[in-house]
Amino acid sequence: MRERLMMKLMEAQGFVSGARMSLDLGISRGAVWKHIQVLRQEGFAIAASPRKGYRLLDVPDVLYAAVVNPLLTGGFGKPYHYRHSLTSTNDTAKALAHSGAPEGTVVVAEEQTGGRGRRGRFWHSPPGGLWFSLILRPKTPPAEINSLSLVLSLAAAEGLEQLPGISPSLKWPNDLLLGGRKVGGILTEISAEADQVHYAVAGIGINANFTSFPPEIEQTATSLQAHSGGAVCRPRLLSALLTALEDNYRRWCEKGFPPFRAAYKERFGLLGKTVSAATPTGTLNGLVRDVDGDGNLILTLRNGEEMRLSTGEITVRGEEH
Ligand code: BTN
Repeated sequence: MRERLMMKLMEAQGFVSGARMSLDLGISRGAVWKHIQVLRQEGFAIAASPRKGYRLLDVPDVLYAAVVNPLLTGGFGKPYHYRHSLTSTNDTAKALAHSGAPEGTVVVAEEQTGGRGRRGRFWHSPPGGLWFSLILRPKTPPAEINSLSLVLSLAAAEGLEQLPGISPSLKWPNDLLLGGRKVGGILTEISAEADQVHYAVAGIGINANFTSFPPEIEQTATSLQAHSGGAVCRPRLLSALLTALEDNYRRWCEKGFPPFRAAYKERFGLLGKTVSAATPTGTLNGLVRDVDGDGNLILTLRNGEEMRLSTGEITVRGEEH
């Protein structure tokens, strides 16, 4: 109900009377007043005039549907599921996808109590971050999903770049870095048969408006706020990210990774570096040569052999990321 009331306030160009809202929402004028009080406590600036009613002056940095929906430009984010706290937005999105939720569905939480990173790692997800998952239904075999993750991380970098002073680089396969520190990442999970993906859930985590980290990632992580010195408007950022994600996703569905290869390589900080790559079959050490047209990482090993990796965890020798 509060979301519907917020929507009314956002839609109104100026004042909207308590009587109008009470009629439209089917609640008493007293109940309208109570909801207005709660919204004020949550940070909404709402003017009240005995004769004219209520007028929304400013919205807080909260990812409510009523705040984000008017900012959305395309189909991603519809439907939009907002929760204050979830174990993991990916888990909720997977359950929704399993029960038939359409492509473009987004699940957002202000905080995650069991946020997950790649390779089963815990993902620090306090309030102030941007934690969301997107349901996709690409008509592709599962092997193509690695390059989809690359394309989505490129979209996330492009979305973030709209913020002043922010220009992320990408660490293969899909870490977003600022000044060499991790500012965000993508965890893509799928349900599939051998030759067909049923659905993919792309979980995107951006360290936005917070500046302290647990000791184990203190040296390697950063946030938009820590990097630029100011808080970002998360609803606008989410809308910019969803627009960029949708554009890249649609193009990837038509043409695959090749049209993105040059842009990915421009942001790619690993070319020419000596790295260790933890792969499902063991660790490889080598020199990063390129990213191929399928999004694979090309390494030259010490014995001169060339390897193409479709997945893995890269550590630049002498650095820990
Ligand atoms: C990584 O770099 O290891 C991937 C991190 C992905 C984190 C996001 S936050 C939203 C979604 N829900 C999760 O539990 N994980 C992803």
